[in-house]
Amino acid sequence: MRCGAQGTARGTASDADTRSAPGWLSERVSVSFSASVAECGADEAGESCDADGGVGGYHVPVMADEVCGWMGAGEGAWIIDGTLGGGGHSERFLEAGASVLGVDRDPEALAHARRRLARFGGRFTTWEGNVADAEHAPQLRAGMRADGLLLDLGVSTRQLDSAARGFSFLRDGPLDMRMGPSSRRTAAEVVNTWSADELTRILREYGEEPAARRIVSAIVAHRESRPFATTADLAGCIERVVGRRGRVHPATRAFQALRMAVNDELDSLAAALEMAPRVLKPGGRLLVITFHSLEDRLVKRFLRRHSQAMLDDPSWPAPRPNPERRFDLPVRGAVKPSAEEIRANPRARSAKLRVARLSECQP
Ligand SMILES: C[S@@+](CC[C@H](N)C(=O)[O-])C[C@H]1O[C@@H](n2cnc3c(N)ncnc32)[C@H](O)[C@@H]1O
Repeated sequence: MRCGAQGTARGTASDADTRSAPGWLSERVSVSFSASVAECGADEAGESCDADGGVGGYHVPVMADEVCGWMGAGEGAWIIDGTLGGGGHSERFLEAGASVLGVDRDPEALAHARRRLARFGGRFTTWEGNVADAEHAPQLRAGMRADGLLLDLGVSTRQLDSAARGFSFLRDGPLDMRMGPSSRRTAAEVVNTWSADELTRILREYGEEPAARRIVSAIVAHRESRPFATTADLAGCIERVVGRRGRVHPATRAFQALRMAVNDELDSLAAALEMAPRVLKPGGRLLVITFHSLEDRLVKRFLRRHSQAMLDDPSWPAPRPNPERRFDLPVRGAVKPSAEEIRANPRARSAKLRVARLSECQP
């Protein structure tokens, strides 16, 4: 049926494991991911995705039909799901007959997906690490090349909903926000040690926070007397500066900015895009779902740079072939979720899917 830096490899589904990596979420907390929690993209507008319609306890993956169709998942295809999360998209690929390598930075997410997708046996394998480093996965080291690579960016509701992970201003927990052991710093380190200028820059750039300067002044004054330790400390400090207006929590933008900084999300995305031509077969598909304008702009610019046939410049006598051409774009612009999908699953509203195909003839 066809449907419309170093990590850790695992074979097929193992039930044995909801583990914590050494030095990461160690004994101080026990993280429990309930299978009854829906998953979410990067949109933390103060709304839990629980309300957004997980079905049968599982996430409804964003634009699943479109993703499956453009991916060309079917018998014999081998697909890298670079952001496995709860395995919603992977499940669709596997149901269509494809084999999947599921990659995630988060060992807890991998353990959950291995249990969920155990029924597909050897067609489903996993690798733990940043997708930008996925060339270290055994299959890729052995020379295999994929028919598709999916990046569905952001965090999952499993991550958001676990107070112990420190992603959410709605749940008090340690100010952590690491997606996994490959994330190099905690949010507490960023908030308590980065300079006021650096903090202002990330709040403006990653969070598009108009009150960045005022928030950072309050953070700096607070941390001088008492370093931030919990999500409630930080959310409370921001709320005192910005006040509460409307449905969106005043800490939404700042938390998003911190999460992106803690996990080097934009650099990881840029590196994963650069890696894509090396892990795909000629004709292989690259699909990227973004939830944030900065991410989408990065993807759009990358694809434009690598898909233009000819380059031109007023100082040149004639246009020249683009030496960086790698991809064809079967879809101009971004695919967006239907009104029906947004109604059923409001978190899909800011999603944009971009699709590219690795050219058959590589330079
Ligand atoms: C939005 S969720 C994916 C949901 C998934 N598509 C599904 O249908 O269940 C994003 C997941 O990607 C992971 N992730 C984000 N950036 C990553 C990166 N650079 N490398 C590996 N995993 C990443 C997060 O830990 C999270 O589990």
